[in-house]
Amino acid sequence: MKNLPAVRTKETFQQLFESTGTMFFCPGRINLIGDHIDYNGGWVLPAAISLGTYAMASLNNKNTFSLYSCNFEQSAIQIDLSAPSLQQKLKGHWAAYVVGSLLEIEKQTGKKLSGMNIVFNGDIPRGSGLSSSASLEVLTCYLACYLNQISIDKIAISCWAQASENQFVGVNCGIMDQFAVANGEEGKALLLNCQSLNYELIPINLGNKVLVVMNSCKPRQLVESKYNERRMESEEALKQIQSIRNIDKLTEANLEDIQIIRDSLIRKRAHHVITENRRVIESVEALKKNNLIRFGQLLSESHESLRLNYETSGEEMDQLVAAAKQNKDCLGARIMGGGFGGCALALVKKDGIDQFIQSVDKKYLSTIGYKAEFYLPLLTDGVKELE
Ligand code: GLA
Repeated sequence: MKNLPAVRTKETFQQLFESTGTMFFCPGRINLIGDHIDYNGGWVLPAAISLGTYAMASLNNKNTFSLYSCNFEQSAIQIDLSAPSLQQKLKGHWAAYVVGSLLEIEKQTGKKLSGMNIVFNGDIPRGSGLSSSASLEVLTCYLACYLNQISIDKIAISCWAQASENQFVGVNCGIMDQFAVANGEEGKALLLNCQSLNYELIPINLGNKVLVVMNSCKPRQLVESKYNERRMESEEALKQIQSIRNIDKLTEANLEDIQIIRDSLIRKRAHHVITENRRVIESVEALKKNNLIRFGQLLSESHESLRLNYETSGEEMDQLVAAAKQNKDCLGARIMGGGFGGCALALVKKDGIDQFIQSVDKKYLSTIGYKAEFYLPLLTDGVKELE
């Protein structure tokens, strides 16, 4: 094992439990295009990336779970899954993502899980919007099934992880992040239909171009409440359109339908959802034809729609995207994921990458006052055991 976070996970496990266990990894994700579409039942194009969460785990022949994280201050915790009020006790604690997932497995399979010793260690920057929560949840579901000999169905695991985040952690996210980190494949993105959960793996061959992830490093503020507000606005748009058309999801509507919506803010939200869903399909067509100029334009159009119509951008993200697009080697850029901070994505010519990063870095620092971070994501397999 050459990878540093994995080595640290193993060493920590050996120190704490004086034994060894099985090593697992679950990636984080980027989303090439298709934001605020999953909970509206449309198409998204995420991919699993090599930043992620490692865990070493073993059964401990007890009824309790000894959990340890290398990433948080309250790092060690002992859990009895049958103890009362776990949800209240773990509010705001990192272990809520783990315990919620374990309880969800018990609920879904009707099987009582055996106790385990687990050490977690992630290298996804916290608050970056690269899905560290989904990574931890899916990793937990996978390793618990693996060690308890429950047959592994990665689509089911994605749904259990999402249910745990919705109901136990209390964040009302869609299915995209959990699905991507569970089902990703090396070098590929997933064209996922969020209503049927059918998906197609799309090879991402960018030739002499690369994807650059630009982390705004903006401190997280009110992200969840604004996300929930957008979900409610989408529901409101759907409700109004349903008065004239028999549809289940907002992505089934078209731009004519939204004329029925009187409130211009709700109409703008619906406009984003309908056009973004189309951009996902068009992006896949462009990628299949190797038309990276068009794909770059679609990224920039997505940003404009998220900025003006869905209003999930903000000064930091707009500055990052504007600085990226000013660069002659950039084919397009957009805010990515839930928004209100987090990361943006740019498509850039390989030859110009150093100069691109330097110039965006400098412009961002001078306008925003703190530094951005840059990563070149490798597209990887979804959750799996290592070694
Ligand atoms: C967050 C959520 C996802 C999705 C995106 C926006 O990442 O967890 O379910 O809604 O925002 O596309």
